[in-house]
Amino acid sequence: MWKLEGLPNTTFLALIAGAALAAAAPRSSSYNASGSQPDYVIIGGGPAGFVLAEELSQNPRTTVVLLEAGPDTAGEEDIDIPGYSPNLLYTQYMWNYTSQPDPNLEGNAPTLEQGRGFGGGSAVNYLGACRGAPSVFDEWADISGDDGLRWENFLNDYKSTVHYQEVPLDYDPHINPSAYGDGPLELTAPLENLGIVLELINSFISVLKLPWVDLNDGTGLGVATSTNVIRASNRTRDFAPQAFGWQLAGRPNAQQLSNAEVTKIGFKGTRAVSVTYVNPIDNSTNTLYPKEIIVSAGALNSPKLLMLSGVGPGDHLRSLNIPVVADIPQLGKNLRDHHCAFMSFEVTSQVETLWQYTQNATFAALAEEEYINNSSGPLSVPNGAAFAIYRAPDSVFEAVDDTFHTSLPADRGQLLFQYSTSTFQATTPNVSIVSPFVGLVQPQDSGYMLLASADYRDAPLVYSNYYGSAGDKAAILHGYKRIRELFSDPSITPLLMGTVALGTVVEGKTWRIKGLDGIRVVDSSTFPYPPTCHPMATVYAYAQHAAQLIREQDR
Ligand SMILES: Cc1cc2nc3c(=O)[nH]c(=O)nc-3n(C[C@H](O)[C@H](O)[C@H](O)COP(=O)(O)OP(=O)(O)OC[C@H]3O[C@@H](n4cnc5c(N)ncnc54)[C@H](O)[C@@H]3O)c2cc1C
Ligand SMILES: *[C@@H]1O[C@H](CO)[C@@H](O)[C@H](O)[C@H]1NC(C)=O
Ligand SMILES: *[C@@H]1O[C@H](CO)[C@@H](O)[C@H](O)[C@H]1NC(C)=O
Ligand SMILES: *[C@@H]1O[C@H](CO)[C@@H](O)[C@H](O)[C@H]1NC(C)=O
Ligand SMILES: *[C@@H]1O[C@H](CO)[C@@H](O)[C@H](O)[C@H]1NC(C)=O
Ligand SMILES: *[C@@H]1O[C@H](CO)[C@@H](O)[C@H](O)[C@H]1NC(C)=O
Ligand SMILES: *[C@@H]1O[C@H](CO)[C@@H](O)[C@H](O)[C@H]1NC(C)=O
Ligand SMILES: *[C@@H]1O[C@H](CO)[C@@H](O)[C@H](O)[C@H]1NC(C)=O
Ligand SMILES: *[C@@H]1O[C@H](CO)[C@@H](O)[C@H](O)[C@H]1NC(C)=O
Repeated sequence: MWKLEGLPNTTFLALIAGAALAAAAPRSSSYNASGSQPDYVIIGGGPAGFVLAEELSQNPRTTVVLLEAGPDTAGEEDIDIPGYSPNLLYTQYMWNYTSQPDPNLEGNAPTLEQGRGFGGGSAVNYLGACRGAPSVFDEWADISGDDGLRWENFLNDYKSTVHYQEVPLDYDPHINPSAYGDGPLELTAPLENLGIVLELINSFISVLKLPWVDLNDGTGLGVATSTNVIRASNRTRDFAPQAFGWQLAGRPNAQQLSNAEVTKIGFKGTRAVSVTYVNPIDNSTNTLYPKEIIVSAGALNSPKLLMLSGVGPGDHLRSLNIPVVADIPQLGKNLRDHHCAFMSFEVTSQVETLWQYTQNATFAALAEEEYINNSSGPLSVPNGAAFAIYRAPDSVFEAVDDTFHTSLPADRGQLLFQYSTSTFQATTPNVSIVSPFVGLVQPQDSGYMLLASADYRDAPLVYSNYYGSAGDKAAILHGYKRIRELFSDPSITPLLMGTVALGTVVEGKTWRIKGLDGIRVVDSSTFPYPPTCHPMATVYAYAQHAAQLIREQDR
C-alpha cells in the first residue's frame, strides 16, 4: 500500500511547467467498442495512457479502448517541430488551468500547463527526457511494497520504452549508452551549439561546481544537455501516439478515440461499471461498459474526474450534490509540482529565441530553410536544452531550522536550473530575451485541489501552496540568487544586453483505488513523490511497469 490512504495523493504537474474533427474521431482501426463490452477502457491519451493501451492490447484476445478528450495531434507543425513548442501555450492543445491566487506568491495565480490531445503533455512539452536521483524510486518501492520500482529493476522499464540514436556532433554529449534500451521512443542529443546551451553548461560547471554527466544513468547530481525525444532522421518530436499509437492502429482489438472527454465513471455499489464521454465539439455523448477502467487523465484531471464520479472527500462532494461512492479525504491532496522562479535577460541577435522566430522575418525565413533543407538549425532544437540538478549547501537550510532538505538522500538535488528562449510573462518588452529559471524539485510542502462545481466543463480549483515551508522558501531564494551568478559568468555575459524584468490512495502493485473494484489509476497523479528530474521519461517507464503487473493480475 502507499503510505497515505486515499487516492491519487500526489498530483504531479509539469516542469514549469490539429484539426478538431467533428465526430469523436478514431485513428484507423477496425475495432468498434460501441455495443460490445471491452476488456479495458483507458481514460486519457498521454504517455501513461498510450503505453498501457499498447501493452494491454498486445494480447489479441484483449479488447482495449483509449479515450482522449482533446484533438488528434497528427500533422501539427507546432507539435512536430521542436523549436516551435513555445507556440503551443494557450492553444486547443492545452487545458489552460490556473492556480488560485497563492499567498506564498504575493497573491499571484500561476498558470498550470497541462497537455490536451493525443500525446497529452508529450505533444506539447519541451522534449527533455531525464530520470534523476535513483533514491526517489527506491523510496517509491518502499512505500508501495513493489520491488519492481526499485531503481535497479525500474531501469529495465526505462530501457523498454526508449532507445538512443547516436548522431555526429561537434561536442561530446556525455551519454552513457548502457542507460538506454531498444524501446519505441527515440532519444537524441541536440545537434550543434544552438541557443546558449554550451555557454550555460560552462557556466553551470564553473559556478555550481558540478560535473557534466548523463542524468539518465543513475547519476543524481550534475549538468547535462537534454536527451531529447526527437527523431534523428528528420528532427521531429517523438511522442506518445507516434511511438506507441501506430501499433494500436493496426490491431483489430484496439480503438483510440480523440474528442472523447470522459465526464463520469459510473458505479454499481463500489464496482466501476461504465464510462460516459462527450464530444466537446458537437456535445454528443456515449457510454461504454468495460470490464476494467484505468484512469490516466493526468495530474489534475485524474483527481477531477474521480471527484466528479463520487470518489473523493465526502464533505466536499456532498456540498456540490455529487453522490458519494467512496469518501477518500486525501484525494486531491499532496499536490506537488516543480514550480519555477525565473528571470529574463535581453540577448544579442546571435542567440535564437522565440522572439527571433516571431518578430524577425529574416531569421525566421533562414531557420525554416535550414530545417527544410537539412533538418538542422534553431528549429531542430527544443527550448533551452541545458540543465543542472543541484543540491544547495546545508547552511541554506540550517539558517531556517529546516532538516527536511538536509536529510534528503545524498543523490538528490533540491533545485533544477534551466532556461527558456521564450517569456514566462504575459507582457514583455518587444526585444529578444531568454528566461533562465530554477525549479524546486523536492518540495517539502504540498497543495491540493477541489472541484469548482459538479459541471465537468469547469476547471478545478487548485491551491498550489508553492514554497510553503520555510525550507522550501530558503531553497528557491538560494536558487534565485544563483541564477544571477550563473548569468554573470564570463561564458554568458557576452550574449546579454540587460535585464528586462524579474519577473494512499492507490494500492501498491495493483494501482487499484482502495475499497473500489474495476478501476485503477496509472499516471503522473499517482507518483508518491516527485522525481528530481523532469517527469515524462518516468511516466513512460511507470506505465510500462504497471502494464506488466496488470496483465499478470487480469490473466
Ligand atoms: C508545457 C509543458 C512542458 C513540459 N516539459 C517537459 C519536459 O521537457 N520534460 C519532461 O519530462 N516533462 C515535461 N512536462 C511534463 C510532462 O509532459 C508530463 O509530466 C507528462 O506528460 C504526464 O503524463 P501523464 O500521462 O501522467 O499525463 P498527461 O500527459 O497530462 O496526459 C493526460 C491526458 O488525459 C487527457 N484527459 C484529461 N481529462 C480527460 C477526460 N476527462 N477524458 C479523456 N481524456 C482526458 C488529457 O487531455 C491528456 O491528453 C511538460 C509539460 C508541459 C505542459
Ligand atoms: C461504432 O458503431 C456504432 C454503431 O454500432 C456507430 O454509430 C459508430 O459511428 C461507430 N463508431 C466508430 C468510431 O466507427
Ligand atoms: C485555451 O486557450 C486558447 C486561447 O484562448 C483557446 O483557443 C483554447 O480553446 C483553450 N483550450 C481549451 C481546452 O479550452
Ligand atoms: C519523420 O521521420 C519519421 C521516421 O523516422 C516519420 O515517421 C515521420 O513521419 C517523419 N515526419 C515528418 C514530419 O517528416
Ligand atoms: C454544447 O453545450 C454547451 C453548453 O451547454 C453549449 O454552450 C454549446 O453551444 C453546445 N455546442 C453545440 C455544438 O451544441
Ligand atoms: C534578424 O535576423 C538576422 C538573421 O539571423 C540577424 O542578422 C539580425 O541581426 C536579426 N535582427 C535582430 C533585430 O535581432
Ligand atoms: C536551402 O537550399 C536551397 C536550394 O539548394 C539553397 O538555395 C538555400 O540557400 C538553402 N538555404 C539554407 C538556409 O541553407
Ligand atoms: C546540416 O546538418 C548537419 C548536422 O546534421 C550540420 O553539421 C551541417 O552544418 C548542416 N549543414 C547546413 C548547410 O546547414
Ligand atoms: C517588434 O520589433 C520588431 C523589430 O525590432 C518589429 O519588426 C515588430 O513589428 C515589433 N513587434 C511588435 C508587436 O511591436
